[in-house]
Amino acid sequence: MIIGIIGSGAMGAGIAQVVATAGHTVRLLDQNADALQRASSSIQANLTKLTEKGKLSADDAAASFARLRPTRDIGSFIDCELVLEAIVEDLAVKQQLFRELEMLVPPDCILASNTSSLSLAAIASACRQPERFIGIHFFNPAPVMQLVEIIPAVQTRTGLAEEVRDLVQSWGKVPVLTKDTPGFIVNRVARPFYGEAIRILEEGIADVATIDWALTELGGFRMGPFALMDFIGHDVNYRVTESIFASFFYDPRFKPSFTQKRLFEAGYYGRKSGRGFYDYAADAIAPEPNRDEALGRTILHRVLAMLINEAVDALALNVASREALELAMTKGVNYPKGLLAWADELGPATVLQTLDALYDEYHEDRYRASPLLRRVVRQNQLFLRHEPAAQQ
Ligand SMILES: NC(=O)c1ccc[n+]([C@@H]2O[C@H](COP(=O)([O-])OP(=O)(O)OC[C@H]3O[C@@H](n4cnc5c(N)ncnc54)[C@H](O)[C@@H]3O)[C@@H](O)[C@H]2O)c1
Repeated sequence: MIIGIIGSGAMGAGIAQVVATAGHTVRLLDQNADALQRASSSIQANLTKLTEKGKLSADDAAASFARLRPTRDIGSFIDCELVLEAIVEDLAVKQQLFRELEMLVPPDCILASNTSSLSLAAIASACRQPERFIGIHFFNPAPVMQLVEIIPAVQTRTGLAEEVRDLVQSWGKVPVLTKDTPGFIVNRVARPFYGEAIRILEEGIADVATIDWALTELGGFRMGPFALMDFIGHDVNYRVTESIFASFFYDPRFKPSFTQKRLFEAGYYGRKSGRGFYDYAADAIAPEPNRDEALGRTILHRVLAMLINEAVDALALNVASREALELAMTKGVNYPKGLLAWADELGPATVLQTLDALYDEYHEDRYRASPLLRRVVRQNQLFLRHEPAAQQ
């Protein structure tokens, strides 16, 4: 199969490596010659690393690299069977690209976008044949992260999502189908990991180091929310939060925080600028957490209840299946467990009690429990196994 990738930045380069290694001929296009050069060098370096680790033979690495054709000429996309764009996150620019592309590629060429936050229906609306358009959302770094969200737009023809899912699976990835709703699965369900942690900080319940300690040491998350936000960068993470909030018609569950907005405005983006929630100066002293187990459990259960509620609500609204939701959070953001499995382990009734107690205290819509969580508790069921829950 001949695959075209447009945009050779962080995502485009990674995706090009994935598909070239899977045996496809890849035409990689960028409007910026330097970006194209950087992508080529980074793919070659990554392939070399894989051979050094014994994960790829030297012959396969050389053949993969030879299948990659960097170009600045969109005319060379004339024989592509699939084109995936990973250019700047701007609706008008993406629409213009697909208008031009559609004039060139064969009529049965699949058109795809790697957008994180735009509506696929809106991008597809620029196409003359929107039924061949679909979302294929990789995670960064694409060669490492296994999850790929597959998002049919309302215009996408029946059956295309399944074809694309099988194709992505043949690349060694874990594809999950999801609806064209803001944040798809991962960027929607993961919001409270950041938002609720910040809320706990703002209320003075615990400091940054203690909250991170609770989530990592007691919860088993690889990184605490503050260390993770500093790693992602507050420019990126704050903008995603704002965009999801607006896309959900300002549902208070997704409300951004002033704490993060101020860091963003100050240019304290996190690791990359030397300061965020933590100080990354060479002589900075890392703050010590308060290792109070009871406090830590309160923090963990509050954040977890909010995350579980988000996953349950996505299930209630048929954003994705149970299996897709579990795979998304374990393979897309490396959570130690799927959130539905975690709900079953804690007991759905315990999760509901935590949310209802928060709702009673704050009277904020943010803490409203999903009707599905309430129903599962009322019927004494679990999310993943259908036997009755143990008596709480
Ligand atoms: N970075 C992430 O973590 C991440 C994860 C998943 C999805 N995405 C999405 O992937 C897309 C790309 O993100 P990125 O982080 O790789 O961006 P990036 O800035 O690293 O790369 C974008 C590249 O596209 C090129 N470009 C811009 N407009 C173009 C055009 N009209 N024609 C050809 N090339 C053009 C730029 O020169 C640049 O090299 C965005 O839609 C983003 O939302 C990003």
